[in-house]
Amino acid sequence: MAEHRLSLAINGRERLLEKRLVPFSMPAELPAAGNGQARLGSVAIVGLGYVGLPTALALLGSAAQITGFDVSEDRLRAIETGDVDLSDLDVARLEKASGDDSFRLTSDSAALAEADAVIVCVPTPVDENHLPNLSALRSACQTVVAHAHPGQTVILTSTSFVGTTRQLLAEPLHTRGLVAGTDVYVAFSPERIDPGNADHLQRETPRVVGGATTQCALRAARVIGQLTDSVYLVSSPEAAELTKLYENIFRAVTLALANEFSDVCGTLGLDPIEVTLAAATKPYGFLAAFPGPGVGGHCIPCDPHYLLWQLHGRNRPTPLIEQAMQSIHARPARVVERAAEVLAADGRALGGAKVMVVGVSYKAGVSDVRESPALLIIDGLARRGVDVGYHDSLVPVVATPEGSLHSVAAPTGADWDLAIIHVVHPDADYTWVRDCPRVLDATYLFEGLLDSPVQRSVV
Ligand SMILES: NC(=O)c1ccc[n+]([C@@H]2O[C@H](COP(=O)([O-])OP(=O)(O)OC[C@H]3O[C@@H](n4cnc5c(N)ncnc54)[C@H](O)[C@@H]3O)[C@@H](O)[C@H]2O)c1
Repeated sequence: MAEHRLSLAINGRERLLEKRLVPFSMPAELPAAGNGQARLGSVAIVGLGYVGLPTALALLGSAAQITGFDVSEDRLRAIETGDVDLSDLDVARLEKASGDDSFRLTSDSAALAEADAVIVCVPTPVDENHLPNLSALRSACQTVVAHAHPGQTVILTSTSFVGTTRQLLAEPLHTRGLVAGTDVYVAFSPERIDPGNADHLQRETPRVVGGATTQCALRAARVIGQLTDSVYLVSSPEAAELTKLYENIFRAVTLALANEFSDVCGTLGLDPIEVTLAAATKPYGFLAAFPGPGVGGHCIPCDPHYLLWQLHGRNRPTPLIEQAMQSIHARPARVVERAAEVLAADGRALGGAKVMVVGVSYKAGVSDVRESPALLIIDGLARRGVDVGYHDSLVPVVATPEGSLHSVAAPTGADWDLAIIHVVHPDADYTWVRDCPRVLDATYLFEGLLDSPVQRSVV
């Protein structure tokens, strides 16, 4: 295994890791990587979404048989035709996989019974009240338990509340007569994939594994160790589950703080990006987060609610996390308010104005609009009587409360009273924005993207 040095905020603290975090080394009896021989037998991936599909593709060559199982026929068809949102590396892998007998896709859950190892990557969203929606996870775990056999390794990777792995996998398996650590091997290993980010590849991103027993952790680490060069073992699935929640809560809190700090900078007449970059020159104890229009995607706006939900009624207040989530959810409304202020500065009312939202996916370089702040901004503008349009080269249509809205394919800046920059995709053409009379830059970074500066306001 490659050496990976943990970066801690305070130099020298690495010593504290002894006996708490165990770097995993691949056992010598497994074939070495790159010798043409697969290290693993058959591996099944349950749920082929943003996480599951790249995970399945990353196992090409490492597992003798890879089975991708998904309940959605539409998703399977999209994968077969290559109509999926993947990095360039994974597009190439998918092309390779389509002619490879060791890679198969199925909606038949019976295929799970043939696997030596099963990795579960199904969605764990929240509902409109920010309460966990566990239906996909429960259903996937029931399917996995029903098809499990002695000797199988089952690894849950979906983010969830603490105790999920035992409740939904180890205990039902036990009821079936399969004891974790003896008959089957059950573990949790949080996923750390970052779609659209080529700087942090799966192989270079360390993974954490927590098993129901030590044997469970070791068996699971052999599988996860094919996806990444560094695996760390923790003492239990619960420790691994909370690790993932902590990571994403940390991100939620820092993003909420970055947004609040940008408001502080606005009040004091300072540039939040300049201040953030200057603070980030400190080589320890500060991690830069940048303000924006809100926080989207399947993780940060959802995952912290799994912990808040779990702690509710336990007399364990978590005001910081609760406040961060409230701030995150309130941010798109703040963007709408700023749009009204920018127009009002020119004596224009928001109602009746033509406003173009630039970029609607939740982050740059992806077409995923789940929990995207843009959807709330579009809805908030429409409710205020705005004639709202959007342009996104990666997202042709979005659902709205009224039905759907299509991307304006080739917008003309002068047609709009205001452009709100929500997200900017790499290599997309934004020169037309120069002709908009007003620009509200919710990314805070738009100015540097054009050759000549635009007149813009920030949130
Ligand atoms: N997307 C990310 O950036 C990311 C990053 C890290 C962790 N995660 C976590 O990984 C998990 C998966 O997220 P995702 O973004 O890949 O979800 P996704 O919605 O993109 O994909 C999930 C897939 O699972 C399938 N599915 C649903 N129920 C199923 C079932 N019962 N059996 C088989 N397949 C089923 C769906 O059809 C879909 O294709 C979540 O817990 C998420 O929090 C996501």
